Amino acid sequence: MHSLVVFASGTGTNAAAIIGWFSRNIKARVSLIVCNRPNAGVLDIAKDKHIPYLLVNKQTIEEELLLTQLASCNPSMIILAGFMWKLPEHIVKAYTGKIVNIHPALLPAYGGKGMYGHHVHEAVIAAGEKESGITIHYVNEEYDEGNIIMQARCLVQPTDSPDDLAARIHKLEHFYYPRVIDFLLPDRL
Ligand code: GRF
Repeated sequence: MHSLVVFASGTGTNAAAIIGWFSRNIKARVSLIVCNRPNAGVLDIAKDKHIPYLLVNKQTIEEELLLTQLASCNPSMIILAGFMWKLPEHIVKAYTGKIVNIHPALLPAYGGKGMYGHHVHEAVIAAGEKESGITIHYVNEEYDEGNIIMQARCLVQPTDSPDDLAARIHKLEHFYYPRVIDFLLPDRL
């Protein structure tokens, strides 16, 4: 069975979708959740699902110990699901080609530093875009610049608030992210 490590900072609805998908599919399981916010909703999900979690701060995320803790999970993939910090370079190097992220817009548009959460949807609406969507991509040393794995689109309605658009995009994320991860994992370890 593949082991997956999820990094998340927020409510964790994507983490929940991934955990749910692989609870019905024995190909993989989430073996660790790494989080930088002690009050993040994703930690409630971890506790509820009995998944070990690790809280990191600006210092511990840089330490070799985290690399050792990750290695002990032997992850086939590291999944960023709303993790607010850039991963340290040594982690990206250690897991090149095995780290994926989801972005709530059609990269390369509306990506980069500061483009997260409602900022993305506000910018998309302010620009009068007719469509937005999600991008699942590999992670490299730069924000939102790794190779794109897949994108899915949705319409932006003229009356949309950022929350309306966020809700539509979350639906796309919850549908596609678990399936894309599943697709990327080799059938055999
Ligand atoms: C998602 O919209 C994702 O695209 C972005 O962060 C958000 C996380 O949401 N990277 P949630 O915590 O999974 O609900």
